[in-house]
Amino acid sequence: MCGIVGYLGEREAYPVLLKGLKRLEYRGYDSAGMALLNPRGELSIYKTKGKVAGLESFVNGQDMSGSNGIAHTRWATHGEPCTENAHPHASPSGRLALVHNGIIENYATLKNKLQAKGYAFRSSTDTEVLVYLIEYIQQKEHTDLLTAVQLALRVVVGAYAIAVIDREHPDMIVAARKSSPLVVGIGEEEFFLASDATPLVEYTKKMVYLKDEEVAVLQRGKELRIVDLHNIQTTPEIQEVEMDLTQLEKGGFPHFMLKEIFDQPDCISDCMRGRIQPAEMRVFLSAVEEHKERLLQARRYVIIACGTSWHAALIGKQLIEHFCRIPVEVAYASEFRYAEPVIGAEDVVIAISQSGETADTLAAVEQAKRQGAFIYGICNNVGSSIARATHTGSYIHVGPEVGVASTKAFTGQVTVLTLLALTLSREKKTMDDQLFEKIIRELSLIPGKMKQLLTLNESIAALAPIFTYARNFIYLGRGYSYPVALEGALKLKEISYIHAEGYPAAEMKHGPIALIDAEMPVVVIAVRDGLYEKVLSNIQEIKARQGKIIALVTEGDTEVTRLADYCITLPPTLECLEPLIASIPLQLLAYHIAVCKGKNVDQPRNLAKSVTVE
Ligand code: AGP
Ligand code: GLU
Repeated sequence: MCGIVGYLGEREAYPVLLKGLKRLEYRGYDSAGMALLNPRGELSIYKTKGKVAGLESFVNGQDMSGSNGIAHTRWATHGEPCTENAHPHASPSGRLALVHNGIIENYATLKNKLQAKGYAFRSSTDTEVLVYLIEYIQQKEHTDLLTAVQLALRVVVGAYAIAVIDREHPDMIVAARKSSPLVVGIGEEEFFLASDATPLVEYTKKMVYLKDEEVAVLQRGKELRIVDLHNIQTTPEIQEVEMDLTQLEKGGFPHFMLKEIFDQPDCISDCMRGRIQPAEMRVFLSAVEEHKERLLQARRYVIIACGTSWHAALIGKQLIEHFCRIPVEVAYASEFRYAEPVIGAEDVVIAISQSGETADTLAAVEQAKRQGAFIYGICNNVGSSIARATHTGSYIHVGPEVGVASTKAFTGQVTVLTLLALTLSREKKTMDDQLFEKIIRELSLIPGKMKQLLTLNESIAALAPIFTYARNFIYLGRGYSYPVALEGALKLKEISYIHAEGYPAAEMKHGPIALIDAEMPVVVIAVRDGLYEKVLSNIQEIKARQGKIIALVTEGDTEVTRLADYCITLPPTLECLEPLIASIPLQLLAYHIAVCKGKNVDQPRNLAKSVTVE
């Protein structure tokens, strides 16, 4: 989710806000805006779709005086990118302005209640509901801004980092966070606010990283006050931040790719937010609710995608066929569009694309639409071309993915495909309650297991130097792990430039085993699933030909560990959820080998983050 900047003090706020937004641009966004309280007590909001530079041009020549202001770069989740949906959002009377990072899950319920009281909304965002709610409480309960924010946040469900200013209290900014990051910078007689420290380090090194459900009161001439939602005060923990700017943009990681690998536990939590309720035995995708009949009556599903998204599609095929007993085909979008596909109104096409701008996938979607198919999109970029070309869809909500090699988007895509297959299986009654409950309970544990996996980072980094010599790698897996083998091979080849191929493990004896010798590293996904014994045999075949085996095994494994040259031990999970686990060590392995080889991990040669050409 994107960027917040705030300033309260003696300086002119505008230059601090504008520079701060520019510092946050690296995070990816689609709109920008700011609100300023000028010396005459007027609260003005300026916002535009597009870049910060566009906002700068938009305000050029206007009176941008004022020393209290908030600003925002938006990464749309609810409501496509446009001026009305950009932040800041004003309250009904125009007295308040608010910026927000995150997702208000129960915004629809809150919006309905406020509309029933006669409120008319200007945007289609979840955020606007919050600033309306705060003013509604302020007026109904005759409270101050802080209390109104606390009361509003007690009824909000979801993730937020917010900053609010009040035209009637020009000496104050109220900020709060839950799940989305927010940092307060403390200067001499001035306060700064931002989503991370990058916009702040040039002004101060004294930072307070807000904790979940903390509310910060920035008030001119007073000490920083931190309270919780019930007004219990806590002492701010002031940290001295010494990081340099480039490091800060990557959250202290050396590369965006490693940051995004480590972001996955939080991203997958965000992806499932509001969509999975284990306690109620419920999975909810609004797209399925709205188009249930069409999705359930489909003769078959065809999933079209490219690259990593195509690997996610192969997993989606297995999930939907196993859970829903609906036939699923998977096609490279580039092949589909020229294959005169036999497709029609009785088919559902799922288009998977992180960027939402891949030319081949977009063209394939248009082709399928022309032939009458119903198109379901699984994208990351809200309002992207592919998202807008589909009939419906589910965003993966993993936030901007900057590294060219896709990591968190892959696990986000697989998560949404799992939720889709579960939702459809409930409607088709093709899955019993017991299995359904088992899967959603385990799914809710996946972010924690991903965190556990990330502790393997150092040990996997230690493996990397051993394999920098290699000219070729083979990756093997069966069942759900076969697409993971393909994805692991793609990760390695696209950032280390070492040739790597993924194969179904059993396929080795039909040719590729001729490649095996002592120089050939073979990565085998040998997790404890229904095909374990078969994979064990494949490992023995490779061992007999001196192949160097790196095996991914499940905790407690005693057989593969005896045969493999190197083992990476994974926490156990259900077979259908293994891709969410096994893919992470393969991302780390590829990353560390590429770093060892001195490659440009975030921008590998010849590659673009979004292939918008054929
Ligand atoms: C994956 O690491 C690559 N960057 C590439 O294969 C990518 O997945 C492919 O270009 C599809 O992109 P999309 O998901 O944005 O459509
Ligand atoms: N959910 C809000 C919106 O779509 C905030 C998105 C963000 O974090 O930038 O406007």
